[in-house]
Amino acid sequence: MPCSILPPTKTTLEVSRETLRGGNLVVIPTETVYGLAANAYEDTAVAKIYALKKRPAFNPLIIHYGSLTEIEKSAFLTPTALQLAEAFWPGPLTLVLRRRPTCPVSLLASAGLETLAVRIPAHPLTQKLLHHTGFPLAAPSANPSEGISPTSPADVVQAFQEYEGNLPILEGGPCKVGLESTIVDLTEQNTPRLLRPGFITPENLRSILGVSVLETDENFPIKAPGQLRRHYAPSLPLRLNVTEVGPTEALLSFGPHTLTGSKTELNLSPTGNLEEAAANFFRFLRLLDSPVYSRIAVLPVPDTSIGLAINDRLRRAATLKES
Ligand code: TXA
Ligand code: MG
Repeated sequence: MPCSILPPTKTTLEVSRETLRGGNLVVIPTETVYGLAANAYEDTAVAKIYALKKRPAFNPLIIHYGSLTEIEKSAFLTPTALQLAEAFWPGPLTLVLRRRPTCPVSLLASAGLETLAVRIPAHPLTQKLLHHTGFPLAAPSANPSEGISPTSPADVVQAFQEYEGNLPILEGGPCKVGLESTIVDLTEQNTPRLLRPGFITPENLRSILGVSVLETDENFPIKAPGQLRRHYAPSLPLRLNVTEVGPTEALLSFGPHTLTGSKTELNLSPTGNLEEAAANFFRFLRLLDSPVYSRIAVLPVPDTSIGLAINDRLRRAATLKES
């Protein structure tokens, strides 16, 4: 049994801490997606994340903390960072900050950059874990590189079924948000920049900051590999914004509609609720990614609030592999 699902108890929390202290990996629940966690201070522990995910070493990781005091030891919290922290932490927001010269986080975890991506996640179990472990956790989504992010323990088991070591998964139920955190870069002078859309929308950010965040356009150099054109991809090709559907296709729909004729259909939210759609998104992509269908056809999703993040993931998933 390569993965073991640990029900949430005092004992399993302590087992998880001991595993992490021993330099090994534990899968942790967060409100966004499940994360593959290691002691962020230890290069050898962090290296195990890259090895298991087959993640390119130039792709830095998000560091998860229990408190602002802990973050202060690693990075410079600017006034803007503190404003956003107060409004959205713990929660699905990642801030890219300048690394302190004395930052104890493994350089491998931040891919040798002078910046550090940090967040305080909201899941109660992971908060408990972080408050008593003694170091922050480097944690990317718990899936092989480029794959679909896991939103339940079963997704993680499926993603790593060929792994031969023992991988404990701390059971924290289905992820409430279902899409990865919003990433905001605060290292450019006075101009917060959105690197990855998520549950915290540009409007939410503006309402706190009083100014609009810069949105990254096609010509902006890639700062987060989550911005790579192809990412979060299922094996089947995707067809977006469809107006008709074929008999061999699986239909991923949204809201009430009248389209018929697909081989199967999953509706992200029959009532048209974007938050419900986000929470179902990766799970439904996984369910439809089967060779019994020729393609996944996707109905349009409104490009507002968290719909922006859903459409961002859809576009990257639809981009064909470069040969
Ligand atoms: O919701 C989430 O953020 C989840 C959960 C587990 O917290 N984590 C997650 O990690 O999505 P991952 O590794 O799949 O995505 C992290 C993204 C990558 O696109 C990476 O390039 C970017 O964060 N990133 C990390 N450090 C960065 C830095 N210093 N500057 C710019 N981007 C950075
Ligand atoms: Mg990921």
